[in-house]
Amino acid sequence: MTADSSSGAQPGDNRPVLTNRQGHPVYDNQNQRTVGARGPATLENYQFLEKISHFDRERIPERVVHARGVTSYGFFESYGTWGDEPISTFTRAKLFQERGKRTPVALRFSTVIGGRDSSETARDPRGFAIKFYTEDGNWDLVGNNLAVFFIRDAIKFPDVIHSLKPDPVTFRQEPARIFDFMSQTPESMHMLVNVFSPRGIPADYRHMQGFGVNTYKWVNQAGDTKLVKYHWMPKQGVRSMTEDDAAAVQAGDLGHATKDLHDAINRGDFPEWELLVQLMDDNDHPELDFDPLDDTKVWPENDFPALPVGRIVLDRNVENNFAENEQISFGTGVLVDGLDFSDDKMLVGRTFSYSDTQRHRVGPNYLQLPVNQAMGTRVRTNQRDGQMVYYVDSVGENPHVNYEPSITGGLREGHYPTHDEQGPEIRGRLTRQRIPRANDYKQAGQRYMLMQDWERGDLVRNFIDLISQCARPVQERMVWHFLLVEDDLGLRVGEGLGISPDDVKQLDPLPGQDLTDEDRQRLQNLG
Ligand code: HEM
Repeated sequence: MTADSSSGAQPGDNRPVLTNRQGHPVYDNQNQRTVGARGPATLENYQFLEKISHFDRERIPERVVHARGVTSYGFFESYGTWGDEPISTFTRAKLFQERGKRTPVALRFSTVIGGRDSSETARDPRGFAIKFYTEDGNWDLVGNNLAVFFIRDAIKFPDVIHSLKPDPVTFRQEPARIFDFMSQTPESMHMLVNVFSPRGIPADYRHMQGFGVNTYKWVNQAGDTKLVKYHWMPKQGVRSMTEDDAAAVQAGDLGHATKDLHDAINRGDFPEWELLVQLMDDNDHPELDFDPLDDTKVWPENDFPALPVGRIVLDRNVENNFAENEQISFGTGVLVDGLDFSDDKMLVGRTFSYSDTQRHRVGPNYLQLPVNQAMGTRVRTNQRDGQMVYYVDSVGENPHVNYEPSITGGLREGHYPTHDEQGPEIRGRLTRQRIPRANDYKQAGQRYMLMQDWERGDLVRNFIDLISQCARPVQERMVWHFLLVEDDLGLRVGEGLGISPDDVKQLDPLPGQDLTDEDRQRLQNLG
């Protein structure tokens, strides 16, 4: 240390000494090394170059969707039953078997469209993603708060997201682009009546529901399968905001929901959700007027009761946002024995997309990071190397054998817990077709009618406000859809836009659109 340095240890200061990542103590963190006090700087200035070049790389790509979010930890506790039956009748997944069994979890809440620092009051679906660290490895359940989605085929996901993301020229979210896409996407109607109602702005993360949305399967010991849908109900109740409420909150804080969750956990007011499950026999259910694998639909609870199977409690905040919230990585392919995919065409697409984006966003060894590790079990693989590898996954007796099969050591294959065949036999020819029974309007209409008066009023106002910013043909097509959803919705939005049923009755159904008899009847009533 030179005599004129501005820094250095003060006598009596017992705090630990700053080092660089090579372990070298830092004697001066205020001044670069220069030739004389006024420079020039030298290039061999290792400490400075390390500091600044690491800083240059502090950001990783944010999630392409769900960039803004918050993660907390807690546990899932099983009730061990579904209705009057032991849960083993339906699934052999170990985490569900015993009443009172606890499994550690991480839960990340998020908004979808905005960037990492965007406002948490946005009108947007909310993500509800859970990682269960089970003894059979990790299970991720990656859902949202609105039970349904905009589209039912994964090939349309980049388009729906582009329409909702900022305009590539103005970089503003533009209603004209959103409703241009939605007007050509009738399966979005059910989601739209949710997103543009007060439910589209949850008061915070503690006061909202969660849903698995896609249809999964449960598998029992005998290999019998059931279709399953997951629902999370907050013990705290459900609360939403209107546009005015949201504007008032946003004026003071862009991150009110993250703060609310952190503060509640810090003061010991641990939020809790109950998990309810709907089950259906594993077939295509020709008796229903919708397809059970269609994620734009809910299953009527009168026919398919949602029964409680467990609860989740969040009791710990992260210690570091970047390591635990930014780098946590969920995926719909991350299942354990006793749980399975269905042929839901969104689910298969999602399952590829998550780990693909995480290899890009976090890196090929993202599963070695503590928050993503399967901490309930021991990981043993023959995967080696790659960028940022952190350690060698556990190997067998002979560290030279990183391949399988081998007679000289290494890892062996496991045995199937029961047998490797399950579920119904499937036959079909390769094709590209929409699913039959699209039935795009009925459940949207039922949802509208279930709302309270003030919620319907809010929905209508929001639609009028946003759709009035769209081109006239888009406005007309949206009114046409709303008249098919429910007369009252179509008439009220139409009135606000100056569009009567007469103005839209000449519109043909969209190319390839599959209308029900009830839809046709409604169209006839227009004229
Ligand atoms: C995040 C793709 C549909 C819920 C993501 C991410 C991608 C993605 C690439 C970013 C993941 C990351 O960077 O770690 C897709 C595709 C979909 C789809 C291709 C349709 C084909 C859905 C649906 C839901 C959903 C239907 C709700 C049920 C979520 C959630 C996250 C997420 C909650 C954030 C996870 C987290 O907190 O890290 N999605 N998604 N996604 N997606 Fe999807």
